[in-house]
Amino acid sequence: MLDVNKIRRDFPIYHSDKPFVYLDSASTTQKPQVVIDAVNSYYNSYAANIHRALYEIGERATDAYEQVRIKVKQFLNVPNTHSVIFTRSTTESINLVAYAWGLKNLRQHDTVFISEMEHHSNLVPWQLITEKIGATLNYIPLADNGTLNIESLDQLNDQTKLVSVGHQSNVFGTVNSVNEIISAAKNVNAVTVLDGAQAAPHMKVNITELDCDFYAFSGHKMVGPTGVGVLIGRTDLLESMDPFMGGGEMINTVTLTKSTWNDVPWKFEAGTPNIAQVIGLGAAIDYLQSVGVDAIHDHEQSLLKYGLDILSQIEGITLYGNADHRGAVIPFNVGNVHAHDLAKFLDTDGICIRAGHHCAQPIMDYLGVASTARASFYLYNDKNDIEQLAKSIEKTARIFD
Ligand SMILES: Cc1ncc(COP(=O)(O)O)c(C=O)c1O
Repeated sequence: MLDVNKIRRDFPIYHSDKPFVYLDSASTTQKPQVVIDAVNSYYNSYAANIHRALYEIGERATDAYEQVRIKVKQFLNVPNTHSVIFTRSTTESINLVAYAWGLKNLRQHDTVFISEMEHHSNLVPWQLITEKIGATLNYIPLADNGTLNIESLDQLNDQTKLVSVGHQSNVFGTVNSVNEIISAAKNVNAVTVLDGAQAAPHMKVNITELDCDFYAFSGHKMVGPTGVGVLIGRTDLLESMDPFMGGGEMINTVTLTKSTWNDVPWKFEAGTPNIAQVIGLGAAIDYLQSVGVDAIHDHEQSLLKYGLDILSQIEGITLYGNADHRGAVIPFNVGNVHAHDLAKFLDTDGICIRAGHHCAQPIMDYLGVASTARASFYLYNDKNDIEQLAKSIEKTARIFD
């Protein structure tokens, strides 16, 4: 296990004496001082636009921003830096693929496959695009233990043009069989997209080995700032795609009749980007690497095991999903207590959990519930957090009994 007391000293939010049990990292994570300092340092000392300012602080800002591209490449073993595009979020990254790749390449009678387990960010963009084009959206179905029914991959055929699935589920924590999914998609020459919002922060991700065409994730779920996401894309595909948004910096030449595009990746970074947030993401990657991604993963796995053990002993609790390979996310309901009431009562004990449909309403439909509670763990959590969670759930359940 990690030395959590030491880690918490790095996170200012833990410096207060107020009870604070933060179990909602699948939604967003707390920020270490080094990330806050990196963002502040840009604003305090070298706030300038990038790629255009011809003075010292402008060059410093450009350099700091572009260095993060190299950091992302190294962090995820991406084949080259031109594959790394900065966006606002996972949501924007997936929309970029849906619009810039989808509008150009999808035709009527084509099919796109996603799964029933997707976050709305990897579902709604595909509904919008397939509807606009008259293409078909198909789903890899869910199985009872919160996994995907991989046998259904035999439905992929020549009409399947794109397959997009979550690397790790934000509801069940299931780490999907992405190697099998990517290989089945490649067999029919379909483009592959992975939503890595829940995976990149919690496990070693190797893009070269995964060999997917696109990979999306968000900085704020990996101790980085809000407002920065990443899309990793195969450069030949990115080069063949039209821009997603038009504006400054994404062009090469502009006349009144025609424009030509900047090289990849800048072709997809229109306007002034979130400079401070990108720089903060760089500090977040450094921080995670200094603790060790494998060490964080092992720590979370111990918490998951302990959490499942402790929570399963609570009378009236339903735990959802039991995939063999899963991250540190536990969805549950307790007796007749509505998940929202539970979350509100836990909050009075200083415990933060998520309650709702988790931006995955089709999963709620599958489970036959309107909502669930969800506890999720990260490097700053310990077993005591889980014990406090269990105590507070039991107390709340007694009130509603
Ligand atoms: C699996 C998954 N995909 C996509 C997203 C969307 O991320 P963002 O809101 O940062 O765009 C989330 C956020 O919870 C998620 O868990």
